[in-house]
Amino acid sequence: MNNDFLVTRRRAIKLGFGMFAGGVGAVTTSKTIVLNHQIQVLDNPNRKFSISGNFSLKERAAAKGLMYGAAIQYSQLSSDKELANIVKHECRVLVPEWELKWHVGKKPLRPSPYNFDFTRADWMANFAKTHGLLLRGHTLVWHESLPPWFKSTVNRQNAKQFLERHIKTVVKRYAGKIHSWDVVNEAIDTSDHRSDGLRTTPWLKLLGPNYIDLAFRLAAESDPQALLVYNDFGLDYDTPQNEAKRTAVLKLLERLKSQGTPIHALGIQAHLSPNRNFNPKKLRQFLRDVASLELKIMITEMDVKDKKLPLDIVVRDRIIAGLYEDYLAAALDEQAVIAVINWGLSDRYTWLSEFQPRRDQAPVRPLPFDTKMQRKLAWNAIARSFDQAPER
Ligand code: XIL
Repeated sequence: MNNDFLVTRRRAIKLGFGMFAGGVGAVTTSKTIVLNHQIQVLDNPNRKFSISGNFSLKERAAAKGLMYGAAIQYSQLSSDKELANIVKHECRVLVPEWELKWHVGKKPLRPSPYNFDFTRADWMANFAKTHGLLLRGHTLVWHESLPPWFKSTVNRQNAKQFLERHIKTVVKRYAGKIHSWDVVNEAIDTSDHRSDGLRTTPWLKLLGPNYIDLAFRLAAESDPQALLVYNDFGLDYDTPQNEAKRTAVLKLLERLKSQGTPIHALGIQAHLSPNRNFNPKKLRQFLRDVASLELKIMITEMDVKDKKLPLDIVVRDRIIAGLYEDYLAAALDEQAVIAVINWGLSDRYTWLSEFQPRRDQAPVRPLPFDTKMQRKLAWNAIARSFDQAPER
């Protein structure tokens, strides 16, 4: 039984593996239930995640020269006062989760080939300005969230014009108001087997590999003040896939820097999972390699997929907090890391409910605040990480 061990049904019930205890019922009463060894290894009942002081995440981060923030949707922030209050109290950075993408939701930024609807993005920018938050733009060039009209309208002859018009129009509108832009998002996919590791996106097919350099140059000339970021996921673990991706991302960053592309930072999404292959030394080395290119680093979309974790909330929250703290302890040791952004702030609103639901249909718990807007151990873990981080 590779890496697994047997436990009695009673222990499974205690751990809240209701899906086993209830689901299989009397048939397995005397039988033992296989439990994934790594879940046991991940759960340390002695980890208390204690914190001192009554400071917000924003304050704890700032004390070390770091920024903390969250990605939130207009529809949530404009209607949920509890959420808005926590965003104001805890966050230094606000990322519109949908509103600066090409086409997401009921009132998308790009409703048609020749029009922009800035209504919701402007509201988010105004909220940030009113409440003293830095605004982070996500994202100018991505293979997802492309408009329904894109495929039938954009072709090799006009693609450069569409890219240029989008970036110049959007970036110039918020010039001077944006802390940083995810200029290009998720352009690497080594499973596409290109020697340069690039994902075969519509942009690559239409414009060739130099679309990335072009996008950064357009953004730089449109807002010389903004920090320009390349953002990607799958960079976190000591697995062959993540190692290949780290290598390809590093090669891309080296290529861009060598050709004078105006790129300033790498965004690491950090969508974590209870992966036994977390190797802090490997992550640390990657961050060191990125920093050696004179790039800053932002943790840009942090959350934890809990679909494989126990149902028991006490155990699950403790494991999730441990994953947060262990990852951030390694990441924040690198002085080039300047920000930690959660993808969402409360379990009341997380994309993982839809994209990574639990088989037992229990609500997922990936974020620092629960659905009642109460702090969780994940909040403590992030707070402790800032408190223990070296000052920038
Ligand atoms: C996600 C949003 O959170 C969802 O609401 C939307 O349906 C799909 O996109 N990486 C990214 C983000 O860079 O833009 C994605 O956001 C999550 C993965």
